[in-house]
Amino acid sequence: MPIYLDNHSTTCIDPNVIDVMVRIMETHYANPGSTTHEAGRLVAELVAGATQKIASHLNAEPDEIIITSGATESNNLALFGVAMHPKQTRRRIVSAVTEHRAILDPLVRLEKHGFEVVRLPVFPNQHPFAGGIDLSLAAECINADTAIVSVMLANNEIGTIQPLAEISKLCQRWGVPLHTDATQAIGRLPMDVQSMGVDLLSFSAHKFYGPKGIGGLFVRQSPEAVRIQAQIVGGGQQFNLRSGTLNSVGILGMAKAIEVVESNLPTDMLQQAYLRNLLWVLLNEQIDGLHLNGPDWDVPIQSNSTRLVNNLNVCFPKVDGQSLMLELPDLAVSSGSACTSVEPHPSHVLIGIGLSEDQARASLRFGIGRFNTEAEVRQTAEWIGRAHAKLAAFNA
Ligand SMILES: Cc1ncc(COP(=O)(O)O)c(C=O)c1O
Repeated sequence: MPIYLDNHSTTCIDPNVIDVMVRIMETHYANPGSTTHEAGRLVAELVAGATQKIASHLNAEPDEIIITSGATESNNLALFGVAMHPKQTRRRIVSAVTEHRAILDPLVRLEKHGFEVVRLPVFPNQHPFAGGIDLSLAAECINADTAIVSVMLANNEIGTIQPLAEISKLCQRWGVPLHTDATQAIGRLPMDVQSMGVDLLSFSAHKFYGPKGIGGLFVRQSPEAVRIQAQIVGGGQQFNLRSGTLNSVGILGMAKAIEVVESNLPTDMLQQAYLRNLLWVLLNEQIDGLHLNGPDWDVPIQSNSTRLVNNLNVCFPKVDGQSLMLELPDLAVSSGSACTSVEPHPSHVLIGIGLSEDQARASLRFGIGRFNTEAEVRQTAEWIGRAHAKLAAFNA
């Protein structure tokens, strides 16, 4: 049986979510916008209940949630929506070098539209808060000309959790909306847009055991509404901010996934931290000279931890990650190279924390999920130990 330890990339759908979605597809296929008949009104009611559930998980209001196709679209809507709003007069955008491509690529486009983009560096790998933002540097860069600050809540490669509440204070000084890409955080951290002080927050259901192709963007409405310009126009759904027939099956699936997260979060967090820590210990027993990429973690896990509980990113001596993965056909993990082009290039996140290209290429990312077991982790460490010994002997 293959072992799946790539839960940052996506998660499997929780069986409870599948049940809900199948039921909705079979019986409630009417368009939630069709309020002229009972069938449509019933689906609209179900969607409203689901949106309420999603909002309350974030400690937000239902009219603050815009449903999208996932975090890529949410990030695009947040950045382009704020920057391109007709009343926008500010020209600076502040973000970080370790953001996901779904932030970095829109930033390049906004630069072409004349925005000044500041990409904050992060603490290097030797620092206990590797990948974290230096708040004093952020304070210097956020000013009266800043249109939006976008800093991810938790990094998808090295798990660094950014100090958003502190960044929010810096933003408030200048009346700057703060956006966070929380794609990796829901289901792995308690969520509260009020205590984090964020004004926009992106999420994607398939990262927390929901379906693919559905997600959302929280857009603060109170005490002051964040002004965003729609990026998809048409039928005027969702307060005219994101047109298109609502994906009712996806929305109900996402809400069910949130419900499962809420009832499992403390146990999921403990179990994933336990398995992640065990994997690190077992790998070190098998292989000398391993390096941890990303911040240290606390044992037991603390509420103010600086690393996602399920994340492990390891630099292996004397091998490259791609070759190691080829030796592990029954293990799903990902390497420190992004294979988005013909020529795989080293991860910008690992480079961002100061690793060399060779070190980045010698790294693997492990993402523990709700359904992983201790037996799988033990098997993984054994497979990797064997594969590494073989490759290291070959390279010696
Ligand atoms: C941090 C982060 N942001 C955005 C995305 C994009 O999410 P999606 O592919 O669901 O649009 C991902 C997915 O890998 C991610 O990890």
